[in-house]
Amino acid sequence: MLPIDRGTPPDSLASQSPHQTSMPDQNQTSPAERLLPKLRAILGDRGMLTDASDTAPYAEDWRRLYQGKTPAVLRPADTAEVARVVVACAEAGVALVPQGGNTSMVGGATPSPDGRALVLSLSRLNRVRSIDPIDLTVTLEAGVILKAAQNAAAEAGCLLPLSISSEGTAQIGGVLATNAGGNNTVRYGNARDLVLGLEVVLPDGQVWNGLRRLRKDNTGYCLRQLFVGSEGTLGVITAAVLKLVPQPREREVALCTVASVQGALDLYTRFNRSDPAAIQAFEYMSGAGVDFVLRHIPGVSLPFEPASHYVLVELATPRIGAGLRASMEAVLTGAMEEDMVSNAVIAESEAQRANLWKLREEHAEAQKREGASVKNDVSVPVSKVPELLERAQAAAALLMPGMRMVPFGHMGDGNIHLNFEQPEAMDAAVFLAQDHAIMDMVGEIVQSLDGSFSAEHGVGMLKPYMMPSWRGGAELDAMRRIKQALDPRGIMNPGKVLPDAATR
Ligand code: MLT
Ligand code: ZN
Repeated sequence: MLPIDRGTPPDSLASQSPHQTSMPDQNQTSPAERLLPKLRAILGDRGMLTDASDTAPYAEDWRRLYQGKTPAVLRPADTAEVARVVVACAEAGVALVPQGGNTSMVGGATPSPDGRALVLSLSRLNRVRSIDPIDLTVTLEAGVILKAAQNAAAEAGCLLPLSISSEGTAQIGGVLATNAGGNNTVRYGNARDLVLGLEVVLPDGQVWNGLRRLRKDNTGYCLRQLFVGSEGTLGVITAAVLKLVPQPREREVALCTVASVQGALDLYTRFNRSDPAAIQAFEYMSGAGVDFVLRHIPGVSLPFEPASHYVLVELATPRIGAGLRASMEAVLTGAMEEDMVSNAVIAESEAQRANLWKLREEHAEAQKREGASVKNDVSVPVSKVPELLERAQAAAALLMPGMRMVPFGHMGDGNIHLNFEQPEAMDAAVFLAQDHAIMDMVGEIVQSLDGSFSAEHGVGMLKPYMMPSWRGGAELDAMRRIKQALDPRGIMNPGKVLPDAATR
């Protein structure tokens, strides 16, 4: 274990704002650059990328909001190498930015533009260590892609009940570090609800092996939940034990159109009264978002005429002879008789299910192809979703005429991606310069509805400025103390989650 003093953070770790552009003196090498030979000795050539063309994809976020810079991407092969890297960086006071599939929506895994932090890619830690269909657990390394984890569970006759649009790229470490939510939260909760155990490399290089697979374990503080959702600011998650559930025996997916957001809520209530335990996903989509998907994503089609509001609902159960098809039909028929639903289709095959889900899952990609957008990943009590969207639409029209509201998301758990697309004729940079005004406009409404400005994407680099007004006082103070206790030199993912110390 490396003794670490409680001195002031090294200059390389000064907090960064998204718009910061300061660069190191061209003639001086940074502490990170000076550390590279030592790191190469630990990782070997295969474990390091240093060419600018190789590191560039790791230095930019998925949304292309942040162009960072790094002298190297470190690619350790196992937990022991991660620990040795962390010790070396801690000794030298060099910052590390842990990165998985680089799918963050909030710049949570992007290094700052000053080029003084190193990216720590976990992608080579990609083994499924074990899977147990009796205990219903899987032990995975951080770099396993979520889709591969789902497949491994399915091969063992189980379901890993965590599904997000980026699951083909996102890695387990990042999914846990950000406490991802996604489509099945309505039934199984968020990523943290699936975590039984963790292995974490602490900021001083100690390895905490907490890979337990117990359903009950009240032994002191629940450390694993501290690291889940900490966005790489408290340590590096290197492996995890996740809960599995039995594989569904019946599964039904339906797409329908409703007259309004209130209609979508009424339909949700109807499904809930019919068979709450069967609701696997309940997703809302607006006409604007579906239009974007149809325009930009090849091979996706709509089974009926376009509408202004859509619901995608999935029912699933491991019960034998549950009759899900009949209950899906009964709820939809009843809703149609009362004019709550105007059109509805139930998928008849796996291919049709995939097509319906594609309409929903391609929203983020389609929105990106349409132009610049400001995302608001908000949550409110489910009953308040209609009011949220109504008030946001009115406020947006006043703030920026022509701005297109594209709300969609996980209505069943109250998490709406209340995104705004630039007005068609506006320059993207001019639009994005208004990001705080748009986020604050939404934030005010969300706050009045007892909601959250950060439902499932995290705070990252985009939103620390919002922390004092949403989590200020005792809560932010406690978070700062935790950070200081575990990472006194501030080497773990600086500039993310917490605003700089001067901001109260
Ligand atoms: C989704 O559910 O598709 C996302 O979390 C993406 C988004 O906000 O764009
Ligand atoms: Zn989402």
